[in-house]
Amino acid sequence: MAVTAVIAAAGSGERLGAGGPKAFVPLAGRPMIEWSIDAFRACASVASIVVAAPPGQLDELAGHPDLSVVAGGATRARSVANALAAVGTELVAIHDAARPLLTPELVEALVATLEAAPEAAGVIAATPITDTVKQAAHQSSPSGGSIDAQDVQNEPQVVERTLDRASLWAAQTPQVFRAAALRDALAGSEIGAATDEAMPVEAVGGTVLLHAAGPENLKVTTPLDLRVAEMLLAERSRR
Ligand code: CTP
Ligand code: MG
Repeated sequence: MAVTAVIAAAGSGERLGAGGPKAFVPLAGRPMIEWSIDAFRACASVASIVVAAPPGQLDELAGHPDLSVVAGGATRARSVANALAAVGTELVAIHDAARPLLTPELVEALVATLEAAPEAAGVIAATPITDTVKQAAHQSSPSGGSIDAQDVQNEPQVVERTLDRASLWAAQTPQVFRAAALRDALAGSEIGAATDEAMPVEAVGGTVLLHAAGPENLKVTTPLDLRVAEMLLAERSRR
């Protein structure tokens, strides 16, 4: 089954604070997104690549005539939805430009897993949680109003419970779906809030499989992540 790769690259990279969109920040000698583009180019199953880029940065990818570039939206979910409109294959592999350690082997393993599981709507790369995870109590504010994100950062929180780590996975990308199943799921949900594509598919009862991927398939969010990614990519090129 042919696959279209969709790369979500339209974020602004606030937390990285590099002064420009994260996907184009230099990483081990090239713009971050190019590591993911190359990984998809090396996949036999990938027939085409669609990139959702920041509306002001569409020209940055002009040197790559094999890519389809669409303008991203205000949220990651909106950017992916915009790109999905340009997908014509049966399968689609959604990936964040912020995960530059992507390998062709991981993509092909996900595709093979989905092809072997006709009952599944998708399969996602994920890694078992290694931290002990606490759920904080929902403390109501004195006024009875909701707590905003700033309060959550600044106020001491109370542990409500410890989650069972044995059943917890951190979702990554790539996430490979039957395109029709993903489109159906997105049509029935409020596009905007979801932080991955498995969420809307789960919400409509679709089966999503987990594929264990290594923690080295990390997401670059902060300057520390950028340093780690730089080190891992340099190590890889020495091999
Ligand atoms: N993304 C996107 N469109 C958006 C927001 C995010 O395509 N409107 C993409 C980013 O480019 C990134 C991926 O979604 O590849 C994951 O998002 P995140 O790591 O949060 O990146 P940013 O939103 O750029 O970073 P920040 O939240 O720190 O601003
Ligand atoms: Mg973001």
